[in-house]
Amino acid sequence: MADLLVTGGAGFIGANFVRYWRAAHPNDRVIVLDALTYAGNPASLEGDDGRPVSTLIHGDICTPGLAESLLREHRIDTVVHFAAESHVDRSIHGPDAFLETNVRGTHELLKAARAAWLDGAWTGGPVRFHHVSTDEVYGSLEPDDRPFQETSPYAPNSPYAATKAASDHLVRAYHHTYGLPVTTSNCSNNYGPYQFPEKLIPLSLVNALGGKPMPIYGDGMNVRDWLYVGDHCRAIDRVLSDGRVGAVYSVGGRNEWTNIAVVRLLCRLLDGAFGADAGLAARFPDAPPARGRQTSTLITFVRDRPGHDRRYAIDADRIGLELGFRPSESFETGLERTVAWYLANERWWRAVMDGSYREWTERQYGATAG
Ligand code: NAD
Ligand code: TYD
Repeated sequence: MADLLVTGGAGFIGANFVRYWRAAHPNDRVIVLDALTYAGNPASLEGDDGRPVSTLIHGDICTPGLAESLLREHRIDTVVHFAAESHVDRSIHGPDAFLETNVRGTHELLKAARAAWLDGAWTGGPVRFHHVSTDEVYGSLEPDDRPFQETSPYAPNSPYAATKAASDHLVRAYHHTYGLPVTTSNCSNNYGPYQFPEKLIPLSLVNALGGKPMPIYGDGMNVRDWLYVGDHCRAIDRVLSDGRVGAVYSVGGRNEWTNIAVVRLLCRLLDGAFGADAGLAARFPDAPPARGRQTSTLITFVRDRPGHDRRYAIDADRIGLELGFRPSESFETGLERTVAWYLANERWWRAVMDGSYREWTERQYGATAG
């Protein structure tokens, strides 16, 4: 039995991870620490009965002493660190919050783990600090380059990627210098339920349902390697169970798509869903298929993101060979599940889009970080 502290557990991947973990390891205790920024939504942690699937502590990883007291009070033996500012576009317009949370916040957590676990007073069993990171730390690939792997040189291009790279280095240094038992996973782009509609797939989906443009940056030929979020959660589980302490694991879907191809596939899936369910036209009257048009008519090319990385791809051989991890969803099945989830969970994304989730969160949890 393990006692987990999941930072950023009210965000997209963190919430999926908590839900996954509760189902896969029902005897473990899971506590979420989340600052409830715009990206944190307690509704993502509600079970089918409307009750929270885990304890949620509203707090900032940057607060000195907070994580250490939680580790001690709850006898946490496993930290799974998701909390981050995660959106590249926001990092371009306001990098400071990224430095604060991704670099200083990660360092506060590392200090907390070192103090709670390595000072001689820890009487529990084995401990682990797992750091969740991104393939973006490796920069951009040319079309014929080999995919990124664990030994690829760091070359972060956006403020987001640079701060994640810094956090990776701090995690590594705490292992090397102090012997903190750490693992790190660098994963490619995720998609699936509970993703905030500012990222490509949920934004395109929600805009299409409202008959709004689906913006494609630049020429739409940038390539990402997409992984269903549930597969990412399973990969982290494999690393926590059997990963080598101190090791880094690249996680990806062997699933490279240009952005325009992703959005076209999404359009086809939506057209198909409206064709199969006449009720959708009544629920979403502004969506093109409700008006006899194809969803792809909404695709709109817009000005490119500054410094836009051309291609990401992951060589996931190490986690496959050492830990037996393989993605279970193909892109088609994963996207179908994602479309079905957004169609079935309109209340969740409407509250995000109209901002009412913020008022609800502040009523329940007090003032939030914004
Ligand atoms: P997200 O933006 O959806 O969620 C981040 C969560 O962290 C939110 O709940 C937010 O409230 C919380 N948070 C932010 N600042 C905090 C602070 N100072 N203290 C406590 N909590 C704070 O992000 P995500 O997409 O779920 O990504 C989770 C992690 O996975 C990040 O570390 C990200 O770098 C990494 N990652 C994401 C992807 C992806 O495709 N989304 C891919 C690879 C790696
Ligand atoms: P995003 O979901 O922001 O993830 P990341 O930047 O971390 O890869 O974007 C995925 C790709 O989609 C990226 O190449 C930028 C592009 N994109 C668009 O073309 N239009 C959009 O509206 C968004 C949000 C992203």
